[in-house]
Amino acid sequence: MSIQNREVVLTGDRPTGPLHLGHYVGSLANRVALQEKYKQFVMLADAQALTDNYENPQRIREQVTQVVLDYLSVGLNPEKTTIFIQTSVPEIAELTVFFLNLVTVSRLQRNPTVKTEIGQKGFGLSIPAGFLMYPVSQAADITIFKARYVPVGEDQLPMIEQTNEIVRTFNRLYKTDVLREAEAIIPPIARLPGIDGAAKMSKTLGNAIYLSDQTDLIVKKVMSMYTDPNHTRVSDPGKVEGNPVFSYLDAFDPDKQEVARLKEQYQKGGLGDVVLKKRLIEVLEAFLSPIRERRKIYEADIPGAMEMVKRGCEEARTVAAHTMQQVRAAMSLDYFTS
Ligand code: TRP
Repeated sequence: MSIQNREVVLTGDRPTGPLHLGHYVGSLANRVALQEKYKQFVMLADAQALTDNYENPQRIREQVTQVVLDYLSVGLNPEKTTIFIQTSVPEIAELTVFFLNLVTVSRLQRNPTVKTEIGQKGFGLSIPAGFLMYPVSQAADITIFKARYVPVGEDQLPMIEQTNEIVRTFNRLYKTDVLREAEAIIPPIARLPGIDGAAKMSKTLGNAIYLSDQTDLIVKKVMSMYTDPNHTRVSDPGKVEGNPVFSYLDAFDPDKQEVARLKEQYQKGGLGDVVLKKRLIEVLEAFLSPIRERRKIYEADIPGAMEMVKRGCEEARTVAAHTMQQVRAAMSLDYFTS
């Protein structure tokens, strides 16, 4: 397929904190691969991040820079991937306004991911309207770029479903085919557990290893990692399942044969946690050191990195503006063009 005709992939992150190994395994690695095959847009969803951080926009502003550095240091290449900031494409907000007419409040309240989040955040009856409707804004993120594929975690499936409902309603009502339905791409690798053994690595749970962590912190975190609590003596047989040290080795150790051998030895007995953790430290250091090297380069010239993002915003805006012309025409809002 020629470059011009490549299918569009769009995905994004709320810039609320630094990215960690779980993000790498669950999405960043995939994006680095996808940029070779698709026209890829990666969005810093600052407007969405503000829906539950509106009291502290400065924090989001700071995290945007950090996430940009994370993106560039893992190898997202601005020549191949259009990295942009959601609020720098105001056409997204415009499309959101039109989409809001096509969605009911009760449909939004039934969105399972939003429902869970509302519970977690303890909004009670005081749900900010902006928060409740963020899936509509997300539908605008996706459709304004006519994305065919949206690589996301399982928790985002309800958003894609809701996006496609909006697309069908829009195209039917306004007798058009400008908007297209999107499909989720769920990463093949299971999510990475936290260093405490919890099912998910997350900033909120405080159990994450960040891509920007330095060596001393890596050593400290790995050495404190949860293992099999019944594996008290080196000679005891240990459990591999549910042991995060092995999950991390599976994800990052390039020597699969050696990992298989270590698992066998651990299960039989005779392999201590400290030896195993030392291997994991080596493996993570080998994985993180080129990422750190690249980060150092971009960190030394943050205005230069942001300049690349600025170009991404301009490119994204051009695409979005083109879709909006078609949207306005379909909705008979193209007052001054003929
Ligand atoms: N909701 C996504 C998350 O919390 C972030 C996001 C915003 C997104 N807009 C998007 C993901 C569009 C995919 C497509 O991770």
